[in-house]
Amino acid sequence: TKIVLAYSGGLDTSVIIPWLKENYEGCEVIATCVDVGQGDELDIVYDKAIKSGASKCYIVDAKEEFAKDYVWTMIKSGAKYEGKYLLGTSAARPLISKELVKVAMKENADYICHGATGKGNDQVRFELSIKALRPDTKIIAPWRVWDIKSREDAIDYANAHGIEVPVTKKRPYSMDRNVFHLSHEGGDLENPANQPIDDLCLICTNPENAPNVAEYVTISFEKGNPVAINGEKMEPLALLEKANEIAAKNGVGILDIVENRLVGMKSRGVYETPGGTLLMEAHTVLESLVLDRATMSYKNQVAIKYSELVYDGMWYTPLREALNAFIESTQQTCTGDVKMKLYKGNCYSVGVESPYSLYSEELVTFGEDNVYNQMDAEGFINLFGLPLKMNAKMKIKNGID
Ligand code: ARG
Ligand code: SIN
Repeated sequence: TKIVLAYSGGLDTSVIIPWLKENYEGCEVIATCVDVGQGDELDIVYDKAIKSGASKCYIVDAKEEFAKDYVWTMIKSGAKYEGKYLLGTSAARPLISKELVKVAMKENADYICHGATGKGNDQVRFELSIKALRPDTKIIAPWRVWDIKSREDAIDYANAHGIEVPVTKKRPYSMDRNVFHLSHEGGDLENPANQPIDDLCLICTNPENAPNVAEYVTISFEKGNPVAINGEKMEPLALLEKANEIAAKNGVGILDIVENRLVGMKSRGVYETPGGTLLMEAHTVLESLVLDRATMSYKNQVAIKYSELVYDGMWYTPLREALNAFIESTQQTCTGDVKMKLYKGNCYSVGVESPYSLYSEELVTFGEDNVYNQMDAEGFINLFGLPLKMNAKMKIKNGID
């Protein structure tokens, strides 16, 4: 049997290798590390996989695709789970799964194994994506079945199986990193009353340590896709990295939330999404100029549903794809420039322009105009207000307050 393992090089996924070999007699473990920008040294990851007993290790560079087809999709959708979370982990899982499936097909492997726990969202995202892309793949989720219950157990298991344990004192947090975001969960954060430690954030500067002068940055969009920063055209990955750098320096993009997991419990996390926060904010401002009222209102409702679909691991589904077609259609005129001001954790727009702007100074002015007849408003209000007027008359007739 061949087993494709979603591999990160960390302790958790390293101990999975000997565990698989003990529990699936004669199996061959094909470690696969999908690089979405977790920032690990990939040749070390490769060596580690082989040393831990994998027969092969694939390193797949998926960063550019992640930025272009997943992060940009999220920016265009405006999706924020429970109104806040930009879905940085959720949006990466489908792409990682797709690459795992590609390796499984190439290797003709029956199994895919992942290192997500039985209590979280990630197991659902991996497994639903795999089912959608290669329905007969068998899944192995060691955390749901083995006796390793803690990091200490995992270290003991590693030592007993000759796997190197990094000596660096690891932070107690469960973290997930990609070029869009970094999450911190667990440890002292498990009590939502605890203020996060001062040096929790690893990407974003704490706002109080950010520069004392505001920084201005202009983001250009074409059909909803970010294409340039301060007039410099960039490919998606480079642009996202640049946005990260500018926003992180100014302390922009830190979110501390309690969220509802799909599997039932609430969980508290601190997320760093510097560039994503900046781009999402700028994109929303551009939409305010180019989308009509009805489309914008409907799109905001779609964004809520979209956020839930992505959170719940339903990326490769007809509904997510259909909603995406709607979103793409709204983006056809979402082209223009937004000037953002960043200052100590804040980021807000100070100017926006677009060739497709629906904004009309002549129409909206408080001064004199020749395009709007104020007398039209009276008839409009009469008809718009007719139902509520009839309701009021009915209440009076029946003596209802
Ligand atoms: N709670 C977030 C989510 O569900 C982040 C999960 C982070 N995952 C991890 N394996 N550390 O999307
Ligand atoms: C995990 O359980 O593996 C991480 C947290 C999550 O998936 O929600």
